[in-house]
Amino acid sequence: MEFCGLFSLKDRVAIVTGARRGIGAATAILFAQAGADVAISDIEAGTGELDAIAGIIKQSGRRALALKCDVSLKSDIDNMVQKTIDTFGQVDILVNNAGGGRPGSLLELSEDDWNFTLNLNLKGCFQCCQAVAKHMIAREKGAIVNVNSVESLRAVRDISHAYAVSKSGMTLLTRQFARELPKHGIRVNEVAPGSIRTEMMKPVWSDPERMERLRTMSLWGRMAEPEEVASAILFLASDAASWVNGHTLIVDGGYMA
Ligand SMILES: NC(=O)c1ccc[n+]([C@@H]2O[C@H](COP(=O)([O-])OP(=O)(O)OC[C@H]3O[C@@H](n4cnc5c(N)ncnc54)[C@H](O)[C@@H]3O)[C@@H](O)[C@H]2O)c1
Repeated sequence: MEFCGLFSLKDRVAIVTGARRGIGAATAILFAQAGADVAISDIEAGTGELDAIAGIIKQSGRRALALKCDVSLKSDIDNMVQKTIDTFGQVDILVNNAGGGRPGSLLELSEDDWNFTLNLNLKGCFQCCQAVAKHMIAREKGAIVNVNSVESLRAVRDISHAYAVSKSGMTLLTRQFARELPKHGIRVNEVAPGSIRTEMMKPVWSDPERMERLRTMSLWGRMAEPEEVASAILFLASDAASWVNGHTLIVDGGYMA
């Protein structure tokens, strides 16, 4: 295959969760530029942001489907997968990007906050993988990319929290699926971004003091842009990564080195 063809997603169908903004939106747009039709979903589907991303995808000459989906709800996931298949006929790529959580020290965290964070980051990823893999198995091919975090690698914050625990579980989930699914032609990998300039990190980039601290700690003196993670996700989703499976691709500018 030609060099550029390796990175092409021409005529593939992708689902990207949590895609109304941030890393999910950047990934969906890049996938469309690489030739994919994209189903974009988010828990917040009525703000106009998801439709705006769908509009950008269509401008690239690809098809887009905007769906409301809370990844912590199995019924929403089943609906997202079914509607994608009804519309596009197949699913080749799944990006489990939806994520977040409620902050707080593990010592103080309520059961409700623990469940919220684990259901979103860990159970949500598991259920999306399971639902989509069942369709990929029938076609004997597919690629799944989970959006993890450097916080899964070691306890980097002063206060421990459920987000890091849930993301650490995601790594084993990625690896378990990566062992189970190759016999069906499906690869499963994850990216682990460092600090990325999205709404999630607004408390940092909108606070000059915290931003200055981050600049000092970062090897590059800056926060990364969502597109810099999207390109790593594209690599893992594409045939260029045909022999990459069960891998955690750290995308942090070397922070954890
Ligand atoms: N920004 C960073 O520095 C950073 C670093 C490491 C990892 N990440 C991970 O990247 C992913 C994307 O985050 P982002 O930085 O773009 O933040 P973001 O807050 O801009 O995007 C997260 C998206 O997920 C959606 N979402 C939240 N709960 C959902 C649910 N239950 N179901 C479906 N969608 C839901 C939100 O509405 C939002 O659109 C997350 O998994 C996050 O943990 C981000």
